[in-house]
Amino acid sequence: MSDKKFNVVIAGGGSTYTPGIVKMMLQHTDIFPLESITLYDNDAERQSILGEALEIVIREDAPEIKFSYTTDPEKAFSNKDFCMAHIRVGKYAMRKLDEQIPLKYGVVGQETCGPGGIAYGMRSITGMLEIIDYMDKYSPSCWMLNYSNPAAIVAEACRVLRPNSKVINICDMPVGTRRRMSYIVGKKYEDLDVRYFGLNHFGWWTSVKDIHTGEDYLPKLLEYVSKNGYLTQKAIDTQHMDASWQATHRKAADLMKVEPKFLPNTYLKYYLYPDYVVEHSDINHTRADEVIEGREKTVFDAAKEIVKKGTATGGEFEVDNHAEFIVSLARALAFNTHEIMLCIVENKGSIENFDDDAMVEVPCIVGHNGPEPLSQGKIPNFERGLMYEQVSVEKLVVEAYIEKSYLKLLQAISLSKMVPSVDVAQKILDDLIIANKEFWPELH
Ligand code: NAD
Ligand code: G6P
Ligand code: MN
Repeated sequence: MSDKKFNVVIAGGGSTYTPGIVKMMLQHTDIFPLESITLYDNDAERQSILGEALEIVIREDAPEIKFSYTTDPEKAFSNKDFCMAHIRVGKYAMRKLDEQIPLKYGVVGQETCGPGGIAYGMRSITGMLEIIDYMDKYSPSCWMLNYSNPAAIVAEACRVLRPNSKVINICDMPVGTRRRMSYIVGKKYEDLDVRYFGLNHFGWWTSVKDIHTGEDYLPKLLEYVSKNGYLTQKAIDTQHMDASWQATHRKAADLMKVEPKFLPNTYLKYYLYPDYVVEHSDINHTRADEVIEGREKTVFDAAKEIVKKGTATGGEFEVDNHAEFIVSLARALAFNTHEIMLCIVENKGSIENFDDDAMVEVPCIVGHNGPEPLSQGKIPNFERGLMYEQVSVEKLVVEAYIEKSYLKLLQAISLSKMVPSVDVAQKILDDLIIANKEFWPELH
């Protein structure tokens, strides 16, 4: 290993995930050495609350690492090796509308799935192109590890609009679920060797084995999950622990009724049980409200506390263990470790009976060349049919964005599995256009 130390910019510096990721990077400097960390956001006020607090954290924990926060793209993106991107265009105020507007018409209202995810996608593409272009201009050899959502639509937009930019789109859901699987079989996360296919927030594990002995854990997991979902006894990490997330983990049991051979991604509940999801939603208190009252309040209160006391020795910010995979990915790219990780990549034959140009989520070998997908063979008709419908929705959104086409966006929403008719799709779309006036291209 060389003695190179890396310069990292976190785009979306004001994100609720920023402190946890910074703390986690500080814990892993032995495997991913750091020269500097810079926060970048387009909301100076929001970012400065976390920036001031993290300045104190780094001064106390790792004074050798340079730290700054800025809203100036040139300062933020110059001389960088990695950009960790987690922006939320429109912030929680718009997430709330993404969730409420479909619900008004009896349709699932969700951050990344269905019409809410489509609306968010139309906003995210602009924000993502902006930061990708800053990166390409100021640090052309920098890698962007993007987990800004909706990752499936963002990934398709990158494929079409910025095919040469070094952007890797990733998701933490399979990481969190795999951690749950490891508890179920009494092993560590690293002990599992998994195979998986699908789209982002839309996939299945086909194999889970012991990486050392080859022992097949799939039968035990299938039995457990078909009864309990991914609920486990042990408290696991800070993410995905709220009551609504626990209900989602439990619901995975029902997802197996229609596919008992594979282990499902929890997000499939929005596609396979939309009526149940709507019944269990409260339009006056959606997930955005839960996050505003929960994670956002906790993180920003902790930051204010650190600044007030002038020290972070009280353990105000928690390490986001969950985000360890981001360091693993950066390390794999930097040191050519050839670690196998799930990434969202162009299919190119990895799923044999699926379109080459679809952005799929599959295990990839990651090294200097970026992620190289492993072959997952042929997939069954049931999954393939669902995936065709969903990937077409995602492609239509990107086409609608590029062509500024009302019709294409209406097609995207109408095609979404959770929307019952064109009539409902049109009502939702017309409300979304008004709500997103400031963010979407004007459609005609
Ligand atoms: P948040 O609202 O707390 O933070 C997002 C930050 O992005 C805000 O500070 C906002 O000002 C900033 N921002 C918005 N537009 C920007 C732009 N154009 N340029 C620079 N900064 C911009 O949101 P959060 O809940 O912490 O989530 C952050 C993002 O991470 C979301 O997109 C979320 O969906 C995503 N996320 C993805 C995964 C995954 O599995 N891929 C996991 C967790 C979170
Ligand atoms: C999982 C998904 C992310 C999503 C997040 C939402 O981690 O993989 O893509 O953004 O859940 O969590 P929240 O707590 O904001 O509802
Ligand atoms: Mn995700």
